[in-house]
Amino acid sequence: MENVVIIDCGSQFTQLIARRVRELKAHSTVLPWDVSVERVQKQNPAALIISGGPESVNDPDAIVLAEGLWELDVPILGICYGMQLMARTLGGQVVSGERPEYGLTEVHRKGSSRLLEGFPEEGEVLMSHRDRVAQVPDGFRVTAETAHGVVAAMEDDAGRRFGLQFHPALAETGQDLLLSRFLFDICGCKGDWKLDGWVSTAVEKIRAKVGPGRVVCGLSGGVDSSVAAALVHKAIGSQLECIFVDHGLMRMNEARHVLDSYAGLGLSVRHVDASELFLSRLAGVTDPEKKRRIVGQLFIEVFDAEAAKIGSVDWLLQGTIYPDVIESGSKKGSALVKSHHNVGGLPEHMKLKLLEPLRDLFKDEVRELGRLIGVPDAIVNRQPFPGPGLAVRCLGEITRERLDTLRAADAIFREELTRAGLYDKIWQSFCVLLPVRTVGVMEEGRTYSEVLALRAVNSQDAMTAEWVPLPSSLLEVTAKRICSEVPGINRVVLDVTSKPPATIEWE
Ligand code: XMP
Repeated sequence: MENVVIIDCGSQFTQLIARRVRELKAHSTVLPWDVSVERVQKQNPAALIISGGPESVNDPDAIVLAEGLWELDVPILGICYGMQLMARTLGGQVVSGERPEYGLTEVHRKGSSRLLEGFPEEGEVLMSHRDRVAQVPDGFRVTAETAHGVVAAMEDDAGRRFGLQFHPALAETGQDLLLSRFLFDICGCKGDWKLDGWVSTAVEKIRAKVGPGRVVCGLSGGVDSSVAAALVHKAIGSQLECIFVDHGLMRMNEARHVLDSYAGLGLSVRHVDASELFLSRLAGVTDPEKKRRIVGQLFIEVFDAEAAKIGSVDWLLQGTIYPDVIESGSKKGSALVKSHHNVGGLPEHMKLKLLEPLRDLFKDEVRELGRLIGVPDAIVNRQPFPGPGLAVRCLGEITRERLDTLRAADAIFREELTRAGLYDKIWQSFCVLLPVRTVGVMEEGRTYSEVLALRAVNSQDAMTAEWVPLPSSLLEVTAKRICSEVPGINRVVLDVTSKPPATIEWE
C-alpha cells in the first residue's frame, strides 16, 4: 500500500492535511516530530510532508527532525514551519519577526517550478507566519513570493524538495490541486486507497488476532464504538458480547432507539439500567469536573461488574480512532480544559488485551465504513454526544425532574430543526438547562422558572467550532413551543459564541 507520511511538528492543521490526503485516496500516516528515520522507512513512504508548527526554528529548543530524514530518497514537502526547517537544516537562513503576514495574501510566481506548473501567475493564499526564509539553501530557488518579498514557495533543482510558506490544506487556497500535484505528479502516488478493500483485510486480521478468544465491548450509541462492534461482529460473531450502560443521562427515547438499532445489527447486547445509581451519586453535585469524574468512574464500575458476569473474557474492544492516536502521540503538552471520559476506560485488574480495529481511520472513514457494513444511518450520522451525557448540559444540580425538563425541550428543538431540514446539516445542536430563574408571565399569571439555552455549532473536528445562525422563524417557533409545552422553563436564549473562546458543551 502506498503511504504518505506526515511528520507532525505541532500544527493544528496536521490532521486536516492527513485527511485531505486520504480524501485524495492516498493512505496517510501521521508520525510525531521525534520519529526515527528507521520508523519512517518502515512505512515505505511514497511522499513525506513536514507540517507547520507553533515554534520558531531559531529558538534554541525548537523542534528538529532526525538527521537522516532529509536525505531519504523520497520527495519532501515542507509546509510553514516545515519549509523553514527545511531551509535552515539544508543551509539556508530564516529570520524571525520581520515582515510577518497573516490572512489572505497576494503571491506571485517566480521562474519555473515543478510544483506550481500550470498554476496562475498570481493568486491569494492564506498566510500565518512571523518567521520567513531569508535565504534558500544552495541548489534551491524561490518559486513564489508575496508582495513584501517574502518567500512563499521554494524548491530544489532536482525537483525532490519543496517548501510552501502557506497552508495548502485550507479551502481558500485550492488545496486539493496543490496537494494532488505533489502526490500524483511528483511522488507518483496512484490514489487507489479504498475502504472496501480495507474491510476484508480488517476482518481477517481480527479473526487471526482474536482466535477463539472472547471480546467484550462497551456501547454508548456513539458512531465509533457502534461501528467497531459491527465490524468485529462481522469477523467473530457471537464471540463478541456488548454492554450498554444506561446512565439515565441520554436524550429522549435515545436508549430505546440505540438498543433497537443494535438488535437490528444482530449484536448481543446486555442492557444495564444504572440510572438510579448514577443519579443518586450525582445528587447535589454542581461542579462540572466532579460530575465528569463521577460519571466516568461509575461507568467503569458498572461495566466491570457486568463484564464479570459474562465469565472469562480475553479482549476489550474500543472504538479508538486515528485522531485519538495522533493526539496522544505527538503533543508536547497541552492544558486540561475538561476531562473527556469515554466509554470503556480499561479497568486495570481485568487484564484484558485491547482490540482497536479503527485505530487507523478518520471519523469520516468510520462513517463510510459503518455505511458499508450496514450500520443504520441513525447511528452513523448521529451527532457527537458527550460521554457524561446530559449531566454536562443540565447545569447546577442534576435531578430527575430537571433532566426530564431538559429532555422535553431538547426533543422540541430537535423536532423543529428536523422539520426545517437542518438537523443533519449541523455538526451539533442541543439544549442546555441553566440553574437561573427569571420572571415571566403566562395566562395563569406570574411565573418564576428556569432559563434554557439553545446551542448549534458547526465544526470539522471539535477542536474549533462556529455557532450557526439559525433562521429566526425556527428560533421563534422553538422558543414558543418550549415555553408553552415544557413546564419549568419560561425563557429561551441563544448561544452565539464560537470555540474558542467558549467550548462546545457548557461544562
Ligand atoms: P468541548 O465542550 O470540549 O467538546 O468543546 C468538544 C466535543 O467533544 C464532545 N465531548 C465529549 N465527548 N466524552 C466524549 O466522548 C466527553 O466527556 C465529552 N465532553 C465533550 C462535545 O460534545 C463536543 O462534540
